[in-house]
Amino acid sequence: MLKLGFIGAGTVGTALAARLNGRGYAVVAVSSRSRTSAQNLAQSVNGCRIFDSQGVADNAELIFITTPDDAIAQVASQLKWRPGQGVVHCSGADSTAILQPAKDSGARVGVFHPLQTFASVKQAMENMPGSTFALEAGEPLLKKLKDMATALGGHWVELKASDKVLYHAAAVIACNYMVTLVKLATDLWQTFDVPPQKATQALLPLLRGTIHNIDTVGIPQCLTGPIARGDVGTIKKHLDALEQAAPHLVSTYRELGLQTIPIAVAKGRIDKNQAEELRVILQPA
Ligand SMILES: NC(=O)c1ccc[n+]([C@@H]2O[C@H](COP(=O)([O-])OP(=O)(O)OC[C@H]3O[C@@H](n4cnc5c(N)ncnc54)[C@H](OP(=O)(O)O)[C@@H]3O)[C@@H](O)[C@H]2O)c1
Repeated sequence: MLKLGFIGAGTVGTALAARLNGRGYAVVAVSSRSRTSAQNLAQSVNGCRIFDSQGVADNAELIFITTPDDAIAQVASQLKWRPGQGVVHCSGADSTAILQPAKDSGARVGVFHPLQTFASVKQAMENMPGSTFALEAGEPLLKKLKDMATALGGHWVELKASDKVLYHAAAVIACNYMVTLVKLATDLWQTFDVPPQKATQALLPLLRGTIHNIDTVGIPQCLTGPIARGDVGTIKKHLDALEQAAPHLVSTYRELGLQTIPIAVAKGRIDKNQAEELRVILQPA
């Protein structure tokens, strides 16, 4: 059975180790900056021993470097690797290029990026099934990573090294900037004196409904609201009110509105003339 090792016992390392172990994989070795983190991971899987990082490289056949992104290249360059063993990181933005020292030693290098947001180990364990894993590797490692993604209840997509940065930018837009948009929306609720927490609670069913519609109805048909209806007057009112109450939001509102017009056109609810009218209003003065 393939012996797995983890360097970096944080959120992703611990959740991956525990899930993979639960699916029958042998997690035999762990190291981390602190012994406490390594102990936490070791306790969540069967038969896992704590080593220093070189010990993990020596005792495992496939090593996950699950440190913060900035430490991966350093870990890869500091350790002695052996030909044939696998060395994988889980960063979304970095390619296998940062594992070059391991590759130079004959190791097979790869990326195994869970396209998911993990705020804690518990939440990571819950959210992992159903997630897509972005894989970058050559055979025979690629097949092993595909099997792991499937064993974790997920899906996989294969990426080239040159795809990684835009792939990660897409994840940031969909995930992190959604957080930013909700924060901007709750800030606007402060103008009518509803506390942020209550505003977030009020907006959450709307967010859930939107995600449900994206999932079930799909883009562009799930788009609703004034741009989808061609309600030019409503957009004008929004812009006027924002200029008064939150002028710092006007440029964001305009830009997102402009990006929404093609979706409304694709939905078929507005024609080219209405789209042009909306474009004129939304374009910066
Ligand atoms: N969190 C997410 O939502 C998410 C999603 C997809 C992919 N990822 C990727 O997964 C990787 C890990 O992220 P994470 O969120 O799990 O980070 P994290 O919770 O901060 O965990 C990183 C762990 O690495 C350990 N560490 C730091 N420097 C080290 C070194 N030089 N040698 C050994 N261990 C070291 C830390 O040690 P101690 O605790 O021992 O101090 C920490 O436990 C990153 O590449 C990240 O991009 C994260």
